[in-house]
Amino acid sequence: MILSLEDHYMTVEYDFLKACWGQPTERTPVWLMRQAGRYLPQYMEVRKNVTFLELCKTPELAAEVTIQPIDYLGADAAILFSDILTPVEPMGMELDFNPGPVFADPIRTKAQIDALRIPEMEEDVPYVLETIKILRREFEGRVPLIGFAGAPFTLACYMVEGKGSKDFAQIKRMMYAEPELFAALMEKVVEMDRQYLNAQIVAGAQAVQIFDTWGGIVSPVDFERFILPYVQKLINGLNRDGVPVIYFVKGSGAMLDLVKKAGSDVVGLDWYIGLNTAREILGDDVAVQGNLDPTVLYAPQPEIEAQVKRILDENAGRPGHIFNLGHGILPTVPPENARFMVECVHRLSQK
Ligand code: CP3
Repeated sequence: MILSLEDHYMTVEYDFLKACWGQPTERTPVWLMRQAGRYLPQYMEVRKNVTFLELCKTPELAAEVTIQPIDYLGADAAILFSDILTPVEPMGMELDFNPGPVFADPIRTKAQIDALRIPEMEEDVPYVLETIKILRREFEGRVPLIGFAGAPFTLACYMVEGKGSKDFAQIKRMMYAEPELFAALMEKVVEMDRQYLNAQIVAGAQAVQIFDTWGGIVSPVDFERFILPYVQKLINGLNRDGVPVIYFVKGSGAMLDLVKKAGSDVVGLDWYIGLNTAREILGDDVAVQGNLDPTVLYAPQPEIEAQVKRILDENAGRPGHIFNLGHGILPTVPPENARFMVECVHRLSQK
């Protein structure tokens, strides 16, 4: 009998997806946020001929760099190569990377918000959907593919600030001084995100991660008031049957109870909180992902191994743990240390 591609996928049980659903696995699955990127010489080789945006927009190349860390690290899941700001450009915002994202004309007025359009995903970001399709064929039976988007608040931060920021004064000023403006912007971004992630799921993404890198820069009450309702609306609007949703909020250790209310299947953790403490707060009906400090990868290997063991010990064999860094891998980390970390997770967690 010849199995169709879909039938074949159904027969493969991926540790990463099982852990997302809170099911036990033989060993702890592991991947790294920003696992494709500048710390890998093979990435730099591809990147030297194209800009970052060209790389994101060329499916064959985006697929190639997505595969690189799977081949090199032996990670248990792949994450689509793109950027959280890719779908914001076709909303009508001119985007450049230098190396961080820069918007030429940051959002400050109601007229600018009204002018933002919701992209037609098939027409405006076809390269993202095509990359996903290529990767599903390439990874058949090997690793599952994670799609992703920036959380509404984190995207709004870049759209309003125009680039990264130390104090995020502009977005916070809008939030506190012009709350209706802030709400109008967030509503638009939620709708874009919803359609964008659903299009990725249709194209073949087997899990999706929502990156809220800046969600931790407000107080817990303001997280509940200005961030949580929009993430809830987004997650509720996803066609998530069989597709686990991961929500990562950097700096959220003091408000994990609220983060859980967003309704994701997996909560991503940074390293500011112990995995044991986090799991006590979150309860056992949600899986966790994390949470090694990315700078530990500069340490000698015995220290890396000790830190991996410490985190596995904090998890104490509970199902529903995906090992990861607490934030993206840094560009100057020795690649062999990242590979050693993955090997440690597999060896030390093997039942
Ligand atoms: O994880 C992966 O391997 C998938 C690809 C991915 C990238 N960015 C590639 C990238 C993902 C998931 C992201 C998410 C992203 N992008 C976030 C959320 C996660 C996080 O790290 O906080 C944010 C805030 C962005 C915005 C962004 N893009 C910044 C701030 C920068 C520059 C920072 C830096 O590292 O210098 C980027 C550029 C970027 N995105 C690069 C890569 C590989 C470097 C581009 C290059 O090759 O020059």
